[in-house]
Amino acid sequence: MKKALSVLTVSAMAVSMLAGCGSSSSAPAASTAAAQETTAAAATTEAAKEETTAAAAATTAANAAAAQDVDLSDKKVGVCIYQFSDNFMTLFRGELQSYLESLGFKPENIEIVDGANDQATQTNQIQNFITSGVDVLIINPVNSSSAATITDMVQQAGIPLVYINREPDKDEEKRWEDNNWDVTYVGCDARQSGTFQGEIIAELPDKGDINGDGKVSYIMIEGDPENIDAQYRTEYSVKALTDAGIKVEELDDQVGNWDQAQAQSLVANSLAQHGKDIEVVFCNNDAMALGAKQAIEAAGETIGKDVYLVGVDALQEACENVKDGSQTGTVFNDHISQSHSAADAAVNYIKGAGNPHYIGCDYVKVTKDNVDDILASLG
Ligand code: GAL
Repeated sequence: MKKALSVLTVSAMAVSMLAGCGSSSSAPAASTAAAQETTAAAATTEAAKEETTAAAAATTAANAAAAQDVDLSDKKVGVCIYQFSDNFMTLFRGELQSYLESLGFKPENIEIVDGANDQATQTNQIQNFITSGVDVLIINPVNSSSAATITDMVQQAGIPLVYINREPDKDEEKRWEDNNWDVTYVGCDARQSGTFQGEIIAELPDKGDINGDGKVSYIMIEGDPENIDAQYRTEYSVKALTDAGIKVEELDDQVGNWDQAQAQSLVANSLAQHGKDIEVVFCNNDAMALGAKQAIEAAGETIGKDVYLVGVDALQEACENVKDGSQTGTVFNDHISQSHSAADAAVNYIKGAGNPHYIGCDYVKVTKDNVDDILASLG
C-alpha cells in the first residue's frame, strides 16, 4: 500500500520555490530582497505544509476511528471495474485492494470483478453482488450513461454506492443529492488534466511551434468518447493553448479507446499522412502515449526535437520516458489518493456516517523538473 502524495507535493514545492528564489540573486539589494522573499515563501510553505500534514493526520485519525467504531472483518465489499486490461485501472484496483485490507476488510470479503468493457456483463455482476448481500459497492461503470439504471438497482436493494473514475452526469448526481441517497462519486476533474497537458506545451521555449510558422499543428488521440475524461481532456488541452494566445491547427483527431496498440496504429497513419507537419501529439492517456511513441520512433522522428508528446496518468513507463526526454510530459492521475478516498467513503457508509456526493482530487503536472518526485511516490 502506498502513501498519498499530498505532503510530498508540498515539500517538493518548497524545494523548488527555494531553489527558484535562491538563484535569482546577483546584486546585493536584489539579493536582500530575494532573501526576504525566500524567507516569506519558506514561511508560507511551512504553514501550508503544516496544514497539509495536520489534514493528513486528521484523515488518518478519522479513518482509524471509523475502522474502530465498526468491525470491518465480516463486512463485504463488491468492486466492479469496467475493464481489467486497462493499465490505469489495474494500478487503481491493486491499490484499492491493499488499502481496503489495511482498513480491516478480510481479503476473502473483497471481491473485484472485470466488466470486460461490456455494460450487460457488468449489470449482471452488480445483480449478483446484490443477491449475495454485500455491504457496500464500489463501481467503475462501463458506460457512465448507465449510471441512473445502476443507481436505481443498488439503491432499491438498500446498498450504499461509491462510483469511481467515470463520472456520471450532473442530473444523475443531483438525484443523489435531492433524494439524500448513500451514493457518491470519487474522482478528479478531467478539465484540470487537459489544461495541464496544454500548459506543458505552452510553457516550452518554442511554445510547441517547432517549425516557427506561427501556429501549433497537433493531432489528438482520444480515449473512449463516451467518457467525460476523454471529452474534457480533448477540449481543455487545446483550450489551454488558445487561452495562452497560441494559434492552433488540428491535423487529425482519432479515437484510440485508451489503448496502446490502437494509438500506435492511429499515430502511424497520421504520420504517414502529415509527416513533419505534426508538432504535438496529444494523447488522452499514457497508454496511448506509449503507443504514439512507438509510432513516432518507427517513423524516424525524435521526440523533443521533431515533435512533442504528452499523455495523462503518470504510468511508471511514461514517467521514465519523461525523465529521458522521449515523452514531453504527463499528468499524474492520483490512483493512490482516489482509491483511498473511495475506500474511506465506503467505510463511512458502512459506519452510517455518510459522505458528500462528490469527493474530488487534484491532478499534478509532470515534466522533467518534478518527474523524480512522482516516480518516488509511485514506489
Ligand atoms: C482515465 C485514465 C485512463 C483510463 C480511463 C478509464 O481517468 O486516464 O487511462 O483508465 O480513466 O475510464
